[in-house]
Amino acid sequence: MLVLIDPRSAPEAFLHGRHLRRSLDAAIYLEGDAVFPLSLSHESACRVLEALAERYHAADVHSIVVLLTPEMAPRASEVAFWLLRRSTDRAYILRASDGPAQPEEWGLWAAERVRRDDEKIRLKTWKPDVPRIQTQHLLLTAPTPEQTEGYYHDIVGTTMFDTLCWNGPASVEELWEYDQMALRRFASGQAAPAHFAIIDRKTQKRIGGCSWRPSPMGPHRGDIGYTISPAWQGKGLGKQAVGALVDWVFSIRRPFRIEADVFVGNDRSRRLLTSLGFTLEGTCRCRESKAGRPVDEWLFALRREEWESRRSDAPASYPSA
Ligand SMILES: CC(C)(COP(=O)(O)OP(=O)(O)OC[C@H]1O[C@@H](n2cnc3c(N)ncnc32)[C@H](O)[C@@H]1OP(=O)(O)O)[C@@H](O)C(=O)NCCC(=O)NCCS
Repeated sequence: MLVLIDPRSAPEAFLHGRHLRRSLDAAIYLEGDAVFPLSLSHESACRVLEALAERYHAADVHSIVVLLTPEMAPRASEVAFWLLRRSTDRAYILRASDGPAQPEEWGLWAAERVRRDDEKIRLKTWKPDVPRIQTQHLLLTAPTPEQTEGYYHDIVGTTMFDTLCWNGPASVEELWEYDQMALRRFASGQAAPAHFAIIDRKTQKRIGGCSWRPSPMGPHRGDIGYTISPAWQGKGLGKQAVGALVDWVFSIRRPFRIEADVFVGNDRSRRLLTSLGFTLEGTCRCRESKAGRPVDEWLFALRREEWESRRSDAPASYPSA
């Protein structure tokens, strides 16, 4: 649970915050002025919040009260976006100038509203604009929680992970957290990784996922990852999704080249890449580990010039890119 306090029009709002923290027995209490140097931009303050939230999450902290600064108060829902981690977490916003004037009474009053989950103080969290990449049959974008839950049940325990470094999610929550992390990356700007859910446009089901991961050396190169749930494989959808991802990456993120690492023997993935114009540049021995065993990998790459010269097909559309 996250409770934000808007301090505007309440000169001693820090007292309200301290009483609320006590009444709620919250694990963490942050006073905006103490946490963020005033010179920091809102964007930088959000980065600080993101780092703090990582630590709180790792320490299994479930209740946080934050006294916003007057500058941050108008963008409270964005603050909530950066601080929340679990699908079950709720965010609330309270104005210190509402309710009882005495800070102690205010703390009790506000805690009671939070405890009874008063929908009037519930805060809907901000979401960044996520691109919507459309192909003939697919939509690549951020998924809904329902789409992710359905996808989890479709993929868990299947062979889909045999040719991936990832062994699969341990729970729906883990997959949802990954989606939330992907949203934060979209909010972090052009140089960040991009992860899309692959949605079948007709059924609106989530059928896969694909990613662009810029290299730590810089965004001039990076690699892609992709997967389609077993029931949807072998129908040309993987190629459609990866083709659209590659078009988007070259058009929007503009690297010199895109790489893909494929477990040796994954012939469907190899065929998919070569039919999109990728070149097999080499085989890297013992490059990855799966179930404790070394795995050899093929390294594929597509240069921008090669992509440009092949781009005679109808391009994907990027309405909100
Ligand atoms: C690899 C994967 C994404 C491919 O997606 P898909 O939807 O199954 O593949 P498509 O139907 O689009 O087919 C891609 C190409 O492989 C070819 N292909 C299909 N089955 C094949 C097989 N058994 N062997 C070789 N090529 C095959 C297709 O003909 C197509 O080539 P074409 O367009 O030249 O005809 C999907 O199978 C998958 O998710 N596998 C498990 C996870 C994984 O391995 N991810 C990739 C990690 S590098």
